[in-house]
Amino acid sequence: MSTVSTRTAICESHSKLILVGEHAVVYGKPAIAMPFPLKVRVTIQKAVGPIMFESSIYTGPIDSMTVKMKGIKACIEESLRCVDQPFANLRIRIDSAIPLGRGLGSSAAIAIAIVRSIFSLFQQGLSEEHLFSLVQIAETYAHGKPSGIDTAAEISEYPIWFQKGKEIVPLVIGIPLYIVVADTGRNGDTHTAVDNVRKMYVSETEKVQNSLDEIGTIGELAREALLKGDVYLLGNLLYRNHEELKILGVSDGELNNLVEIARNAGALGAKLTGGGLGGCILALGESLEHAEVIATQLMDSGVSNVWYFSTEENILYSLK
Ligand code: MEV
Repeated sequence: MSTVSTRTAICESHSKLILVGEHAVVYGKPAIAMPFPLKVRVTIQKAVGPIMFESSIYTGPIDSMTVKMKGIKACIEESLRCVDQPFANLRIRIDSAIPLGRGLGSSAAIAIAIVRSIFSLFQQGLSEEHLFSLVQIAETYAHGKPSGIDTAAEISEYPIWFQKGKEIVPLVIGIPLYIVVADTGRNGDTHTAVDNVRKMYVSETEKVQNSLDEIGTIGELAREALLKGDVYLLGNLLYRNHEELKILGVSDGELNNLVEIARNAGALGAKLTGGGLGGCILALGESLEHAEVIATQLMDSGVSNVWYFSTEENILYSLK
């Protein structure tokens, strides 16, 4: 959704879930990601003076932003250059329902909504490819060498089949999926998790390569399962994917425990989602009612928040 006048532009972006394939996607394996209905809204107004930024983590002049926010600044700078505007005379406000650093793609979502707002405010067309490349400026600062899956999944309104450097394919899913997402409340550091896998690849090449290959196979099988509407096979693949992420060292005790709680609640499948080392897990239910049962058991275990939804309706239920 976007609202634009000559002085103000308001644009949104949704977050994302990686269904299968995180980490292996950095090494060229295929992955499947989908929109998650938590959203960020950016309001950009023309206002004389230096660019002022307002968000839950930083409020003040853009030039005094923390090093961690350097990527957003670079992305804004480049976007303004593209629309022939000086790096000044804006007030940028971020209202986000996406928790930061939980594997839900908050950083890419913020950058997407900012770039969309800048181009809308100055009435310039913006192709998806151009949006992708501008957002990747911010993502490269945030994550080192991101595969681009977060940005691609958040630009898309549909689940996607993603393989680095290849065409992004929207996936038509034959059946509704009932998905539960539980948030540990702990920040997962994607940069560190990706770095750890890289270091492990150097020290234990064969073990890591086997895992990456297995995750690649899981991705291919998950795509077939989605197209055929086989949620039982899909669920099984999610559990298998989680085992491989454990081998890669990006899971932890709490994430593993949450996967087991979901399994005991009868989830068809469950795994960590995103970079890991904190953040969230996702689980697959048989119906919306079943998703609620799984969600309740996860919430009772003391997590910070649990959401559930069906891919066929645009309603996100939260247990918080
Ligand atoms: C992060 O959401 C997904 C990772 O695979 C990193 C990436 O693809 O850039 C862990």
